[in-house]
Amino acid sequence: MDEIKPITQASALDPRYYSCADIYDYETRHILTTGWQIVSPAAQVSGAGDIITRQLGNVPIIVLRTKDGVLKGFYNICPHRAGPVAQCDARGTKRLRCAYHGWAYDHDGQLTSAPEMQAAENFDPGAIQLTSIDVREWNGTIWARAGNGPDFNTVIDGIGDIIGSGLGNLIYSGSILYDVACNWKVYADNYLEGYHLPFVHPGLTQAVDYSTYKTQTHKYWSLQRSPIDDDTGAYAAGEALYFLIYPNTMLNILPGRMQTNRIIPTGIDSCRIEFDFYYAPEEAYRKEQDIKFSDKVQEEDRIICEHVQKGLTSGVYKPGRLSPARESGVWHFQNLLRSAYKTMAAK
Ligand code: FES
Ligand SMILES: [Fe+2]
Repeated sequence: MDEIKPITQASALDPRYYSCADIYDYETRHILTTGWQIVSPAAQVSGAGDIITRQLGNVPIIVLRTKDGVLKGFYNICPHRAGPVAQCDARGTKRLRCAYHGWAYDHDGQLTSAPEMQAAENFDPGAIQLTSIDVREWNGTIWARAGNGPDFNTVIDGIGDIIGSGLGNLIYSGSILYDVACNWKVYADNYLEGYHLPFVHPGLTQAVDYSTYKTQTHKYWSLQRSPIDDDTGAYAAGEALYFLIYPNTMLNILPGRMQTNRIIPTGIDSCRIEFDFYYAPEEAYRKEQDIKFSDKVQEEDRIICEHVQKGLTSGVYKPGRLSPARESGVWHFQNLLRSAYKTMAAK
């Protein structure tokens, strides 16, 4: 078992955690399903009957807005024979109807009709509901988790004080998905340090002041912050805040803009990153340029992460020492994982 050590003595996580099927299974069930994460902009479920379909770990979920304006979340798994009660995002639905055999549910998840079940003995539709999950709305974003774990306020504790009320006027403007052939943690590890910036992202290094990059860690999140001193014209002057909220949500906050990312594992050695873009109205004109820039940075990260995945799974790599100056975010994230793996080993 990897030990938790002070950063001055710490090494990276053992490579077996990036390739073992049992670890991956544990992570999807007990870390990625149960951890609070951003699943959508609130604008996508703003009206009565609006639905989004997503995945938490391996669990398909839906989040919806009832006609009374209440946000609810359920497993997107029909209690009959596991069909999907919604197949895609939709606006203004009146009910949920399973795509497999047509059982229908109201927005409280209660079964309301089940065709051709009259002859089934002791079949009580009133006792059949979709399984509900926890959902929250926060600063224009929708968060969800299924199962037990730290409560929402504990997870985001302290973030509100740092970001203030500046996100209030941001408007959701679109999403992009990126696929990367690496374990989900390789992507997170890479996000968590600016150490690689001068080597992997020479363009980004011109825009953010790498020399003043500071990392702070809290219980369930870490933050890299840097003043923006942009010669490229891509960013307005101000400060860049990069949060990773354990396990798999990132908030990238820049003056007048926010980009949220969520890492969704799609296999032991693959993941998908959801990007949602938000702008203040006066900054919205930057969107096209931003997306071009983000595509470039993303491609640079994809290439390096895919190389790292190969190195980690080569069978010959041994964990290397971390830089106390530059990798405290990686150390913090990997320590949260080490604690989770300890729980796994104790089961
Ligand atoms: S699985 Fe949903 S109606 Fe059969
Ligand atoms: Fe990067």
